[in-house]
Amino acid sequence: CGIIGCAGRDGETLDVLVHGLSKLEYRGYDSAGVALAGSDLDVCKTAGEIDDLRAALEERSPSGSVGIGHTRWSTHGPPTDENAHPHLDCNREVAVVHNGIIENYQALRDELSTAGHEFRSDTDTEVVPHLIEDALADGADPEEAVREAIARLEGSYAVSVVMSGVDRIFAARNDSPLVLGIDDEAYYLASDVPAFRDHTDRVIYLADGEFAVVDADGYRVTTLDGEPVEKTVDTVDWDPEETGKSGYDHFMLKEIHEQPRALRQCLRGRVDELAGQVDLADLGDLSPRGIHLVACGTSYHAAVYAAQLFQQAGIPAQAFLASEYATSPPPIGDALVIGVTQSGETADTLSALREARKRGARTLAVTNTVGSTAARECDHAMYIRAGPEIGVAATKTFSSQIAALNLLALAITSVGDAREVISGLRDLPGAVQEILDTSTARKIAEAYRDAESYFFIGRGLHYPVALEGALKMKEITYKHAEGFAAGELKHGPLALVTQDTPVFAIVTGDDEQATKTVGNVKEVEARDAPVVAVTDGASDVERYADHVLEVPDTHRRVAAVVANVQLQLVAYHTADMLGRSIDKPRNLAKSVTVE
Ligand code: G6P
Repeated sequence: CGIIGCAGRDGETLDVLVHGLSKLEYRGYDSAGVALAGSDLDVCKTAGEIDDLRAALEERSPSGSVGIGHTRWSTHGPPTDENAHPHLDCNREVAVVHNGIIENYQALRDELSTAGHEFRSDTDTEVVPHLIEDALADGADPEEAVREAIARLEGSYAVSVVMSGVDRIFAARNDSPLVLGIDDEAYYLASDVPAFRDHTDRVIYLADGEFAVVDADGYRVTTLDGEPVEKTVDTVDWDPEETGKSGYDHFMLKEIHEQPRALRQCLRGRVDELAGQVDLADLGDLSPRGIHLVACGTSYHAAVYAAQLFQQAGIPAQAFLASEYATSPPPIGDALVIGVTQSGETADTLSALREARKRGARTLAVTNTVGSTAARECDHAMYIRAGPEIGVAATKTFSSQIAALNLLALAITSVGDAREVISGLRDLPGAVQEILDTSTARKIAEAYRDAESYFFIGRGLHYPVALEGALKMKEITYKHAEGFAAGELKHGPLALVTQDTPVFAIVTGDDEQATKTVGNVKEVEARDAPVVAVTDGASDVERYADHVLEVPDTHRRVAAVVANVQLQLVAYHTADMLGRSIDKPRNLAKSVTVE
């Protein structure tokens, strides 16, 4: 879910809120709403996307000098008008937006219902305005009332509150992100910087347990108990332009095309090609004896890839799905635990990292988001520098994660051919550009857009690419797609392979691994399945393939990135031809901040 708040833009508050929500849609988009407070409290909310909210606002425009807004990704209750935020108390004088999960909401709701409060929604959030209402009725002033209500919550929350007749916004966070934005005339609150980046680049990251009061004249940050907290103002270094579509039909396509630049940014200042060295001095001395990587979704695929890099350098390393790691943690010993997370806010990954810390492990966040919870909570943070990614389906951040994890492997292990790997990394942006300029992925998409299932196979460093190729396909086309380790196909999945199931095989180089994968391709071809080879032409896989997606010859440690770009394009063009909602696929959110 995404939160926005604004104080100090008289007459423009509503526009600022709606614009902010449109920038936060990647966090969820199944309902949205705003509340503005002046002498009265005015609320408008609806099921559907931000455009549905805009339509509802045409009929009645709330006014007020301070306001809050919310875009929702359902966790409690279906996406309906009633379940949309903001939520109100009985008297409709207190409005609350919330991101996270209130774990003790049922007990609070029972208590409040017994005391006569009537609830209108199925959400956990709705207990908050009713708690505030009770505190106000007991004589607390508005700020005290909000503090008292927040103190009763267990679980994760970023909460913002406005009230009728009060020209301030109250906000608090625990385990869910909240950022303050400051410009000369106004103050903003949001789950993430893009929500107000068009107005200011000066930000304050709130920490867990902090409470903020914001009005047109300034802001005040304290602990929940009221102890003042000194905060530093940071400046974000990316441009608001970077969150626009720049002429592309979709953010996803724009972000696929940004990969060469993103990769260059990731490498900048970190490699010395002549000396064959990587400089990540800001990470300090890591020298791990073992490594656990925890991650979800696309980031998990980057983690599976990285585990192999560390293993090849002699360090015991394993990738884990973060949700499973948090549920059933393995013995950690003195392993370094690396959280790979684009957003730095994925609840499952944060929870795995916290579990590791509790057990005494050192932790490192490999993330795209400066100031994110993962970056702040881990002992070390390494930034992948991909720039903001808006499309829900991760693209450029996967490539940048692979580049960053390669740098990390070079920095903390001794790799025999470090010079060659570095030069492979240096050549990578150019190789990706070559694919973007010449890819025939659209033709492949045309040929197979009606298939019901797609399979992807790869071995070794190409196994995570097979997983990622399938994930991209299912996320944005809504078609069945699976990725398999090439050698595993014959142990079951081969039963699903028919002439109607295209199989994408990733084969680069002509070593023993490639030869084995070509053997697996022959097994598929013998079952009449159409084969699309993603290859640099070094092996003889083309002989058994119906189509070829060419990739340039690159170092074997970076070939995964170039092969994956071809598969990103196949998924994109297939989804485009099928008319899917590419940037905001159904049921998915960019950043999932609940477990
Ligand atoms: C969500 C997104 C995925 C993403 C995953 C992990 O499920 O839809 O695209 O890979 O979260 O996100 P993270 O920010 O932790 O990399």
